[in-house]
Amino acid sequence: MNPWIKMLFSATVATLVVCEGNASIEVLDLDIVSYEDFINEDRTALDALQHALYEKGIVGIKGIPGYKEKVLKFIETARAFSALPEEVKESYAPNRALGETFLGYEKGKEKFKRPDGRWVIDDLKVSYYGFVPDSAFNKWPKEMDLRTPFQDIGKLMSEMGEAVMQKIGLIGPKAVTSLDGAPRLGRMLYYRKSEDSSKDNPYWCGSHFDHGLFTALLPAFYFAQGEAVPEPEEAGLFVKTTSEGIFKKVVANDPEVLLFQVGEFGQLVTHDAIRATEHRVHKAEGRVERFTMALFTDAPMDMEVRSTSVLTADSRYGGKAGDPCTYRHWNGESFKRYLVKDDDVK
Ligand SMILES: [Fe+2]
Repeated sequence: MNPWIKMLFSATVATLVVCEGNASIEVLDLDIVSYEDFINEDRTALDALQHALYEKGIVGIKGIPGYKEKVLKFIETARAFSALPEEVKESYAPNRALGETFLGYEKGKEKFKRPDGRWVIDDLKVSYYGFVPDSAFNKWPKEMDLRTPFQDIGKLMSEMGEAVMQKIGLIGPKAVTSLDGAPRLGRMLYYRKSEDSSKDNPYWCGSHFDHGLFTALLPAFYFAQGEAVPEPEEAGLFVKTTSEGIFKKVVANDPEVLLFQVGEFGQLVTHDAIRATEHRVHKAEGRVERFTMALFTDAPMDMEVRSTSVLTADSRYGGKAGDPCTYRHWNGESFKRYLVKDDDVK
């Protein structure tokens, strides 16, 4: 085992309150189900999985065969890509003049609304987007093999996400009947050190909901000056629990665990039976950088829902409760709202 991995994952998951300056941080009691119990359909494990996603909006599955090796290879590759010269990375950004919208490299192109109503750009968030499985639309760097580790871990995340959706009824007669034609989008995430930014935005990623059906997420890996470090107390993923309505820190420091969250279209198709997971990523102070990956499962683009969810009041829905809305419409409106336009950047 790499020494940095040993160091990184020595801590345990626990419920506790830690102090960050004057503010206290409450840690989520994260439910983790074993892969074996999940596959064997152990009733207690499946109940725990379902309860966690409905009450907290997040759950972990531990011990998926081949997972840890793929995660570590992916993180190593993500770091190598991030170390390439900026002009090389920028050459893999979408050419918006040609109508390309998001595949490939993206730096600081998302904005979120703060509680005071201001829109703030997540200027330290860097991404690389690609469809899973691989598609002719994907862009891949020539300087190194990002494609193989990205696709290897992405496929595993996609398959596990689908299996979890089936178990909790997100795929089924009362939700999405089939994922045929549903895109899966992988997103490599690199959060740059906060000393490169103003103190104006305390988050690497502002509070938001993923707009698709369901999200699979790797645990995060942290580095300072090239060395692996444990997750700083003040930093990391925070979710607003659906039952209690407060943000709690998700301590997911085990490379064997794959996390899952619910997206807004999952809430729409179930008419609020399950709620989308509100989440944000708090910055680490100083020179610490963060790497992870998310895999978003969309609904089939032509799927039409006639939802009675509270989310139909959102203007992206384009109608009132009970009116039809396709996933294509919801997806397009979501990109329009959160993607930074050229005139947003001063
Ligand atoms: Fe997200």
